[in-house]
Order: sequence, then C-alpha cells, then structure tokens
Amino acid sequence: MTFQPVLERIAEDIGRMPDRGRPAGYIPALAACDPARFGMAVAEPDGTVYGVGEWRTPFSAQSVTKVFTLALDLAREGDALWEHVGREPSGNPFNSLVQLEYEGGIPRNPFINAGALVVTDRLHTRTGDAAAELLTFLRTESGNPGLAFDLDVAASEDAHGDRNAALAHFMASYGNIASPVPVLLDQYFRQCSVAASCADLALATGFLARHGVRADGSRLLSRSQAKQVNAVMLTCGTYDAAGDFAYRVGLPGKSGVGGGIIAVVPGRCTLCVWGPGLDERGNSVSGVAALDRFTTLTGLSVF
Ligand code: DON
Repeated sequence: MTFQPVLERIAEDIGRMPDRGRPAGYIPALAACDPARFGMAVAEPDGTVYGVGEWRTPFSAQSVTKVFTLALDLAREGDALWEHVGREPSGNPFNSLVQLEYEGGIPRNPFINAGALVVTDRLHTRTGDAAAELLTFLRTESGNPGLAFDLDVAASEDAHGDRNAALAHFMASYGNIASPVPVLLDQYFRQCSVAASCADLALATGFLARHGVRADGSRLLSRSQAKQVNAVMLTCGTYDAAGDFAYRVGLPGKSGVGGGIIAVVPGRCTLCVWGPGLDERGNSVSGVAALDRFTTLTGLSVF
C-alpha cells in the first residue's frame, strides 16, 4: 500500500486547524519558528519513504534524539542501565526536578531531561563522545551524510541552560553522573541541536519497526530490547501527556520541543511529523493531530 494519499489528506486537514500552538520560547533560536509550518514522512522497513509538506526541511530534533541515545546505550550496557534510570512515566513536565530528591537521584525514565542526561553520560563514558556517536548513527540510518549539529541552537540553549545544569549537578551529588557536568551539558546540548528532516528521522527510527535491526541488516538491539524501547516511548515519550497521546494515537512516540514527533508501527512503518507550534506540555499540536489522523485513517496502531 502507498501512504501518499493518506499523507495528503492529513496535510489538508492540518491546513484547516485554527490553532497550532506556540513555538518553544525558552530556546531563543527556536522561538521565531512559524507554527503554521508542517511536514510529515512515513518510512517502510525497506527504506521506501513517503512525504508531504516540508518533509525534507531540517528542523531541531531536540528530545527526539533521546530515543537514539537510549538505544545506543542499551545496545552497549544492556539491563545495567536500568539501575541508573527508571522506566515509569513521571506525570511531570520534561524538565521537572521535583521527583529527583525523594527518589535518590534516579530519574523516572530516560526521556525526561534528567533521565536523558543520565543516558548521555553513560553513552559518553562508554564511547568518549556521545554526541558524535549519535550523529554517526543518524547519518548512517537516514542515508544522509549531511546531518549536523546546529551550534547556534546548542549555544542558545547553553545560555539558558540553568535548569539542565541544576538537574545534572543534583544527580552528580548522588553519584549518578560520571562526567564533569560542563562536559555532559555540552554533549547534551549538541545532541539536542541536531538538525534533521522528517524523512531523515523516519528513516533513522526504522530499526524500531525492524525489531532492532539496522538499515544495513546488522542488529543494534535484540528483539526484546526493541520492544522495551517502544514500550518506554509509549508510556513516557510525550511526558505528562503520554496517556492522552496513547489514547489518541495508539503508537509509541517521542516528541521534541523543536516540534518533531517520531512514532513506530512495529513491523510496518515509522513516522516523523513536524509542526513547530507546541501545546503547554511541549508536544507539537499539529504533530499529535496528524498522528491521530494517521492511525484513524489507516487503522494502524499497536492496539
Ligand atoms: O533539555 C531541553 O530543554 C531541550 N534541549 C530538549 C527538551 C525537549 O525537546 C523536550 N521535549 N518535548
């Protein structure tokens, strides 16, 4: 089946949406983005890609990258990771500090900022350069060697990074961060700044639809680990809106404040949608609506 007609119908529906949210204001380099912009891509496990709107326009991947660093670290250290980060929904905003003290410096899950900092720290300790490891993976899986960090976005976030610095220092005080905090923050901000298109990110997510197998046929994750990453995306990938996202979309998904969301239909396809206007929980308004329409129109869902 071709996904093209369904994507075109979704783009028409999104074009009629009266309110598409506001771009992230706390990273000045992202704040100027027009919330009316929209793109969406679907990739099949064999690398066939369909797209609509600005599906080849690079945008700031931000927290979407947390899926890839999690997979890269899990592939290296396996279940030992889960002694340092949990896998329960937090029910709190992505940048919240509130649970960390009474939960002994162990973040609830790898997708809130605290958990992503732990994962990046562990990947960095193992590889010597977590951000480079991520970028190489994204370039290889997307087939786009031009993918790069946006150093203006990284610098912009660094200049407003007090909350992430607080999270990292606080976890370091519990012995849950090994790298010097400034090194970790530099790695994390560059990781988040990767500029990639819907086509790039839908293709790079393909290993989760292929049950852990990379584009070249080699295995990154076991079948069981791929299921685990998809499960954590479903329960934690859209923060304190994960319940509503599962209800509306019914797929594992991961959002970023750049307005991107990736989603997985295991065994069938991966998706990436981009609309820079966010709701109050930091998820793309048009992105969630488009994925909601996709699963309604196609009947594809994990349920
Ligand atoms: O840590 C931050 O604040 C950002 N670099 C990433 C946050 C993000 O994308 C949250 N997702 N909705």
